[in-house]
Amino acid sequence: MKIVLLGPPGAGKGTQADVLVKKLFVPHISTGDMFRAAISSGTPLGVEAKGYMDKGQLVPDEVTVGIIADRIAQPDCREGFLLDGFPRTLAQAEALDKLLAGLGGLDAVINISVPLDKLIVRLTGRRMCRDCGNIYHLLYNAPEKEDVCDSCGGQLYQRADDCEETVKNRLDVYEKQTAPLIEYYTRQGVLKTINGDQQINAVLAELGDALGQHWG
Ligand code: AP5
Ligand code: MG
Ligand code: ZN
Repeated sequence: MKIVLLGPPGAGKGTQADVLVKKLFVPHISTGDMFRAAISSGTPLGVEAKGYMDKGQLVPDEVTVGIIADRIAQPDCREGFLLDGFPRTLAQAEALDKLLAGLGGLDAVINISVPLDKLIVRLTGRRMCRDCGNIYHLLYNAPEKEDVCDSCGGQLYQRADDCEETVKNRLDVYEKQTAPLIEYYTRQGVLKTINGDQQINAVLAELGDALGQHWG
C-alpha cells in the first residue's frame, strides 16, 4: 500500500504513523525525521535544512523531492510505504505523481483534521525521545517519569521548532502551501478525511476504517 498522511503540524501524523507501519508492514517515511537525522549528523543536507526548519519554513522542493526519490527507490519500498509530511506543496505532489507513474499511483491520502487552536497546544506541549524518537505530550500522552522515555529510558527533549512563534509560522505555511493539496487529492479521488480531534486510539480506529483494515 502506498499511503500519504496529510494534515497540519501537530495533527498526529507521526503518532499514528508509528503504530500504522507496524500493522501494515511498510516503511514509515517522514521527511521531517530525515531532516532532523541529517541535522544531528551534521551533514550538508542537515546544515541546509536547519536554516529553513528553525524559521518554520519549508525546505526547497528540489531538495525534498530528491531525498524522497532516493528513499522510495530503496528495496524496502517495493511493497509500499507510508509518507508522513510529504508532499506538502503542489510541486511536490506533482513530482510524486511522476515518480509513481507506472507503479499504480497512491492508494490513499488520509487527511487528519484538527482545529487550529488545538494544534498550538499539541505542538507546544510535545516532547520527543532523543534515542528512539517516541512522541509524547505533557498533558495528552505523558511519560510515566518526567523527561524519560517509557519505552527506551532515553532523554526527552522539545523540538527546536515547537516554540510558540515558530509554531504559528508553520501553521501559516501549512494554510498557504499545503492545504491546497486537499483539493488536489480530492480531484484524484484518493482523499479521505478523518477526525483527528479525538483520543489517539479512536483516531487510529478511524484510520483503519478509512484504509479498509479491520484491527478490532
Ligand atoms: P515535520 O517534522 O513533518 O513537522 P510537521 O508537519 O510540522 O508535523 P509535526 O511533526 O509537528 O506534527 P505531527 O502531525 O507529526 O504530530 P505528532 O504526531 O508529533 O516537519 C518539520 C519541518 O521540516 C518543516 O517545518 C519543514 O521545515 C521541514 N519539512 C519536513 N517535510 C518537508 C517537506 N515535505 N517539504 C519541505 N519541508 C519539509 O503529534 C503532535 C503532538 O500532539 C504530540 O505531542 C502528540 O503526543 C500529541 N497528539 C497526537 N495525537 C493526539 C491526539 N489524538 N490527541 C491529543 N494529543 C495528540
Ligand atoms: Mg511529525
Ligand atoms: Zn525512547
